[in-house]
Amino acid sequence: MKVLGIESTAHTLGIGIVDEEDVLANAKDMFEPEEGGFRPREAAEHHYKSFLEVLNRAEQESGLEVSDVGAVAYSRGPGLPQCLDTGAVAARTLSLKHGVPLVGVNHCLAHISIGTRTTDAERPVTLYVSGGNTQLIFRNQGRYRVVGETLDIAVGNAVDKLARHLDVPYPGGPEIERLAERTDEIFEASYPVKGMDFSFSGLVTELKRSHHGEEVTANTFQEHAYAALVEGLERAMAQEDVDEALLTGGVAMNDRLRSMIDSMCGERGADFSVPNKEFCMDNGAMIAHQGLRRLRDGDETPVSAEVLPDWRPDEVEL
Ligand code: ATP
Ligand code: FE2
Repeated sequence: MKVLGIESTAHTLGIGIVDEEDVLANAKDMFEPEEGGFRPREAAEHHYKSFLEVLNRAEQESGLEVSDVGAVAYSRGPGLPQCLDTGAVAARTLSLKHGVPLVGVNHCLAHISIGTRTTDAERPVTLYVSGGNTQLIFRNQGRYRVVGETLDIAVGNAVDKLARHLDVPYPGGPEIERLAERTDEIFEASYPVKGMDFSFSGLVTELKRSHHGEEVTANTFQEHAYAALVEGLERAMAQEDVDEALLTGGVAMNDRLRSMIDSMCGERGADFSVPNKEFCMDNGAMIAHQGLRRLRDGDETPVSAEVLPDWRPDEVEL
């Protein structure tokens, strides 16, 4: 069966089409604010206005039309309410128009399942790091358990806050990475891990108040924040007695974080997987794939179902 998936939890509108074998389309368009921070209402407006254009691209990439798909999936949560609503309304409309099943999926679990679909990972501890989420997730006894998470802001949000302070536009991650690569120097700052939980907002405040150059500040952020993530991940792998790690979410595109995890896994004799960059960041193919899995399990969502902005992955019944 071919499933169309709509992603609209935050800044990216993604529309993907998958079947059991292939990813047939993965079109996206990201909202980039002209100035200042990210405003949910403007992002939702972007998704609404660019919907048909992104849908057309998905059709072209796949050589299919919407009438060829057997189901429509959408991100039901977690995410920004206005953005979620835009995707949900579009999904309900397409499902009603074409008389095909509708399935609202959990965005976090979609990140994990596109990871296990496109890499060798089977039952990993997942480090899911993005602008809205920072979680260590492990499937155990029929449920995904959040074994560690941020106690305040997500690590991607921390990167973006530091970036804004350094006058780098959203999304700040790639430019912070480039700045950090230009130096080996760091200074001592707080180390944001507590067991398997994290806390990044103190580190950001500390770095904003410091008076080092932007390259050293960026490098100090990366060396502290990413080492903390790796430490939490290693602890979770030891606790769950698992020798597989999966890294996903927008921050998974960071090469320094990847290489730190690679070294840690190498030392433990564990396998490390990370999906292609197009599947790390928010995308429609992962929603379509998660929808396909849920439908195979007999799960459908009525058109009357509301979006779930605070939906945690550990609330999902498998
Ligand atoms: P979610 O809805 O899962 O919380 P999101 O809306 O934050 O996701 P993603 O595309 O998963 O969207 O992630 C975007 C985040 O990834 C931004 O915070 C951005 O700065 C960060 N990011 C992107 N590239 C890099 C990079 N190279 N290094 C560090 N962070 C990065
Ligand atoms: Fe995401």
